[in-house]
Amino acid sequence: MATPFIAGNWKMNTTLREAVALVREMRGELARLDGVERVLCPPFISLAAVSELVAGTPIKVGAQNLFHEQKGAYTGEVSPLMLRDLCEYVIVGHSERRACFHEDDAVVNRKLKAAVAAGLRPILCVGERLGERESGRAEEVVTAQLHRALEGYSDAASLVVAYEPVWAIGTGKAATPDMAGAMMALIRRRLSEAFGDNPANGIPLLYGGSVTSQNIRGFVEQPPVDGALVGGASLRAADFVEIVRTTAQVRARM
Ligand code: 13P
Repeated sequence: MATPFIAGNWKMNTTLREAVALVREMRGELARLDGVERVLCPPFISLAAVSELVAGTPIKVGAQNLFHEQKGAYTGEVSPLMLRDLCEYVIVGHSERRACFHEDDAVVNRKLKAAVAAGLRPILCVGERLGERESGRAEEVVTAQLHRALEGYSDAASLVVAYEPVWAIGTGKAATPDMAGAMMALIRRRLSEAFGDNPANGIPLLYGGSVTSQNIRGFVEQPPVDGALVGGASLRAADFVEIVRTTAQVRARM
């Protein structure tokens, strides 16, 4: 079984000062919990401060994006080489990047490869839009996203995959645990086809989309779901700690 895993994607929220305050508020309790990989993904400008604040604790840090080149004349971009001193993980292919910044599967594929080449662990996001689910195409869309994102990619041991149905993100309308479990089982099968059963079984699979401390239990009780990629609730210290605690409790009994 893959390691239970909770990541908080802060998105474009928190100033440097607010980020520091948020980490200070949750660091103690978060560090004391056991058996769950826990990752904070603040905005770029807070990465250095956050990684310093959690140094020496089991809390890990991730970036929310990266550029696929290691260095050069790319004004405004941040490279894998810059990130690897500051964090272990990086979110790649989030639906907000696909929608607002026109990142397609080919871009996602380049970013994934650049991330692992620099020694970062990518958290690859996939997920269908509402119309795609309503027209019965969710599985086909997610399969295609995985297939294109992972073309020529071989490092299963570094990979984390997050299934985030676009219609569930920031809407308060989470997928049902059954829905998430069914899609995760499909994702696990696709990963087995790509990497073989053993490597694929070690890849943490996260559900994302309106996860809260109230609904996390239902998701992590589904065996194919190893954890969550949490947006809004990760900005509230008590909620995020509770999400990690519940995950630890549920998975310890499985
Ligand atoms: P919410 O938890 O705010 O719905 O966001 C989910 C998400 O996009 C995490 O990456």
